Amino acid sequence: MERAEKIAIASDHAGRELKEDLKEFLKSRGLEPVDMGTNGDESVDYPDYGIPVAEKVSKGEIKRGILICGTGIGMSIVANKFPRVRAALVCDVYTARMAKEHNDANILVIGGRIVGKGLAREMVSVWLDTEFSAGRHQRRLDKIREIEDRVGGCG
Ligand code: RB5
Repeated sequence: MERAEKIAIASDHAGRELKEDLKEFLKSRGLEPVDMGTNGDESVDYPDYGIPVAEKVSKGEIKRGILICGTGIGMSIVANKFPRVRAALVCDVYTARMAKEHNDANILVIGGRIVGKGLAREMVSVWLDTEFSAGRHQRRLDKIREIEDRVGGCG
C-alpha cells in the first residue's frame, strides 16, 4: 500500500478551530496532516507557526502545506519569504483552483475569520485535485525563481 501524503498544517489562535476541522477533512481524504501548532487557546504570533511549515515546503521535506491565521494575510507574507514556496491566500473556490492551475501554489493560505468550514473544505479539495497547467505559466514561475536566485536568501 502506498504511504499517505503528508500535508503540513499550522495556524495561530485565530485559525485553530479551522485547522482542527481541516485536519479531519485531510484524514477523510486519505492524507496525513502534520500538525505544527498552535494547539493552545492563548494568543500567539503567526510567524512562529508559519515559519516551520514554510521551511519544510521550501526544503522539499513536505510537498504541500496549509496555513491559517485570522485573515490569511500574515501567514502569506511569512510563507512567501521562503525560496520555492508559492503560498496563495484564497477566498473562494475559483481562487483555490487558479492557485494550483496557474500558480502551482504549494501552500494554501486561508483566513479563519473570513471563511467558514464548509467553504474551506471545498477550497482545500479543489486545490488538492487541480493539476498545474504548466506551459506559459511555467515560464512565469521560472521568472519568480530567478528573483529568488537574484536576491538570495535562506537556501
Ligand atoms: C491575530 O489577531 C491576527 O492579526 C492574525 O491572525 C492574522 O490575521 C494576521 O495577519
